[in-house]
Amino acid sequence: MSNSMNAVDIFGAVRMGYIVVQSSKLGDWRRFLKQGLGLHLETESDTALAFRMDAHQRRFMVEDGAAEDVVAMGWQVRDPATLDIILKRLADRDIAVEDGTPEEAERRGVKSFRRLRGPKDMQLELFVEAVTTGAPLNMLASGGFVTGDSGMGHAAITSRKPEKMLRFWQEIFDARLSDRISQPLGGVMLDISFLRVNERHHSLAIAAVRGLRIDPIGTRVQHVNLLVNRMEDLVGAFERLRDLGFEMAHEIGQHPNDKEMSFYVLSPSGFEVEFGWDALKVNEANWKTAHYNAISLWGHKPPKNSALNSLRLNLGNFRRGLRSLARPEYSPI
Ligand SMILES: [Fe+2]
Repeated sequence: MSNSMNAVDIFGAVRMGYIVVQSSKLGDWRRFLKQGLGLHLETESDTALAFRMDAHQRRFMVEDGAAEDVVAMGWQVRDPATLDIILKRLADRDIAVEDGTPEEAERRGVKSFRRLRGPKDMQLELFVEAVTTGAPLNMLASGGFVTGDSGMGHAAITSRKPEKMLRFWQEIFDARLSDRISQPLGGVMLDISFLRVNERHHSLAIAAVRGLRIDPIGTRVQHVNLLVNRMEDLVGAFERLRDLGFEMAHEIGQHPNDKEMSFYVLSPSGFEVEFGWDALKVNEANWKTAHYNAISLWGHKPPKNSALNSLRLNLGNFRRGLRSLARPEYSPI
């Protein structure tokens, strides 16, 4: 449902354009993205990596630093007029916006961008025009990625203020609720809302622990998702990552809502990357919002030999959840 407060509906005009990770493990990230997931390495230096997935000169950037997290998400807006609508909505809510510098724009592969402090301190960056290239792609995921009108992927974020986070995306970007999933997890119930801003079933998933305002995830994102066109590239990446020694969080399985087949692997920074194939696109004419009782139709099991590691992860999550009680979560609205 679009937000009735807005006179103009900009649904469909916004898509995920790029992400910037900050990590001190550039060598691991290089192996993870190039040899594992199979992206195209565009440039590398001692302090930064940039990867392509399509004609955009840059989609996935890793910059040297201590955060071990996604530090910025770029959102591509259809045209300057739509960007003006978004900026007006932000101004009406006293949400500060600043210009990115030309050097920062160059590092992101865009002509220019505006930046704001989004929910949970995520730096959100708005741009209209990406720098593109016709140079051939050289990547192991040779069938290519789903991008275009769907954008480059989705992000899943845990929140102690899920109602505010939903409101932000609905009021500023006219996001629509695709569906919800409730999933029992380690003795608590996780409620997940899936939001779409275009034909992709969800560009954002917002997860909250029911009845408890705790956040079990220490990073801003719980996972980032990328989608490939061919099943061979899903299975190929799974096998390559395992051979390279990267740890799976959840082996291949299928989600009930967007019907996507995917696996989840621990990135060098600790948050998960979901790699998927065959997710449906929403047909606005007949879509019905549903509520599911499990995150997976089948699969998505932790690997058999990782009992110790999952114990360690769960204990870490529990401690972080308790620590989150003492930490305020930023919301711009
Ligand atoms: Fe996902």
